[in-house]
Amino acid sequence: MKATIATLPGDGIGVEVVAEGVKVLQAVAEKYDHRFTFEHHLIGACAIDATGTSLPDETLAACQQADAVLFGAVGDPRYDDPTAPVRPEHGLMALRKALELYANLRPVHVYPALMAVSPLRAELLEGVNLVVVRELTGGIYFGQRQEATEQNLTAHDTMVYDASEVRRIAHLAFKLARQRGRASGGNKVTSVDKANILASSRLWRRIVTEVATGYPDVTFETLLVDAATMHLLRRPRDFDVILTTNLFGDILSDEASMLAGSMGMLPSASLGAGAFGLYEPIHGSGYDISGKGIANPLATILSAAMLLRHSLGLGEEAKAVEQAVEAALDQGYRTADIAGPTTTAVSTEQMGNAVATALS
Ligand code: IPM
Ligand code: MG
Repeated sequence: MKATIATLPGDGIGVEVVAEGVKVLQAVAEKYDHRFTFEHHLIGACAIDATGTSLPDETLAACQQADAVLFGAVGDPRYDDPTAPVRPEHGLMALRKALELYANLRPVHVYPALMAVSPLRAELLEGVNLVVVRELTGGIYFGQRQEATEQNLTAHDTMVYDASEVRRIAHLAFKLARQRGRASGGNKVTSVDKANILASSRLWRRIVTEVATGYPDVTFETLLVDAATMHLLRRPRDFDVILTTNLFGDILSDEASMLAGSMGMLPSASLGAGAFGLYEPIHGSGYDISGKGIANPLATILSAAMLLRHSLGLGEEAKAVEQAVEAALDQGYRTADIAGPTTTAVSTEQMGNAVATALS
């Protein structure tokens, strides 16, 4: 098949990891006789430097015309000044909103080869297989905001949800639980909120509970977010689909990445109504390690696998990439974040090569 993939490496290690994602997609194209065209565009700090804005019109237009987007990371300490008028992160938020990618899927897979790297004991990790479904275009990320000024040192952010935003992400989560149930025996939605305090969470819980009645075959439970952070470490095996708001999903998915051993292992898919999607590692631009060629490209490579499956309908190819990642890990390839004290780490590029070789 022919497909156009917009690639947005962004900032910091985003550039290094996306290069390896593209390498693996090229290996897929070769092996399975597909034609993928890659179009590189600017977003984040590099876009601000070049054009003055974090999401240039040209980048958005290219994404709208592509079959899918492979994204790296945005963020640069040069823009950390709280009074900065533009921030690299705005570009990503504006892109998610403009493309109406309201559902962010963050699967957590524990590779047996990496169990020793997780700060959790292996006995807690066996059988862990969960996915965080994070609402991505609403909540406190997009509510009305007021920055503090020198004259008025008060600031606020607003967490807003309306029923339709909650309903559509809830349906997606229940349908996903059903599909996963057929594949793996899991069949549960855990909705995470803060309904004891927040009005937006009380609406969230009410609508999700309503939607749940339409899926009597899916087990449904609710958890308060503070308790959820604890249960995720104490009994991670008990979770299947974790459905939650934009902010809580951001936080819980970083926590969940520790089950897999590193932030560098977790991919994500941001989806809307159709097959189109944006695929990105959950980690950020990693400025402290960028430019050194030591970042872990596996989260991006696994995001590329999600791209193949969801946007291009290439399930077999996606599986092959996932198996190639597992093979590279089984052969002992480790970037620094997953190396442990006694293993020599390989570079970003060597890890990408190991996966591409395992694939072909
Ligand atoms: C993520 C990131 C982003 C977010 C930042 C970079 C805006 O942390 O994708 O999890 O908070 O959504
Ligand atoms: Mg995050």
